[in-house]
Amino acid sequence: MIEQAGNRLKKPLLTDRLTLWPGSLETLPQGGGFDAVFSCNVLQFVDDRTAFLELVKEHLKPDGLFATTFQPRGFCATAQAGRDWIGAFAEDLCQANFVDVDIREEVFGDMPAFCALGTAPA
Ligand SMILES: C[S@@+](CC[C@H](N)C(=O)[O-])C[C@H]1O[C@@H](n2cnc3c(N)ncnc32)[C@H](O)[C@@H]1O
Repeated sequence: MIEQAGNRLKKPLLTDRLTLWPGSLETLPQGGGFDAVFSCNVLQFVDDRTAFLELVKEHLKPDGLFATTFQPRGFCATAQAGRDWIGAFAEDLCQANFVDVDIREEVFGDMPAFCALGTAPA
């Protein structure tokens, strides 16, 4: 993932607009500074989503945006599975006191991609 990102984002890397940091959210140093956190096809692998979302909030500024995307993949993937997962993620965001929680769905190739968004409390 780091190698792919490095290849795609050469310009912002060269101009110091971007830092790529390999590691998990749990080991990311320094909390509290980000305007936004985005994850793609990650949350379904997280065992304790409550703890994960508390960490996301710690790394966000007040009113910072969290967006998490899920696109079902594989031979047995269905759009309904995507809707079910993203609905569960949106519920988790509400439970974690994110506000303005919303869901988006967009066709992306042959399978829709689903995104749950929430704003960290002020
Ligand atoms: C299926 S891959 C998705 C990769 C890429 N985002 C994509 O959509 O192609 C799942 C990714 O979740 C990452 N991941 C799982 N748990 C994580 C955590 N606690 N913190 C950060 N990344 C995590 C894994 O390292 C892996 O790169």
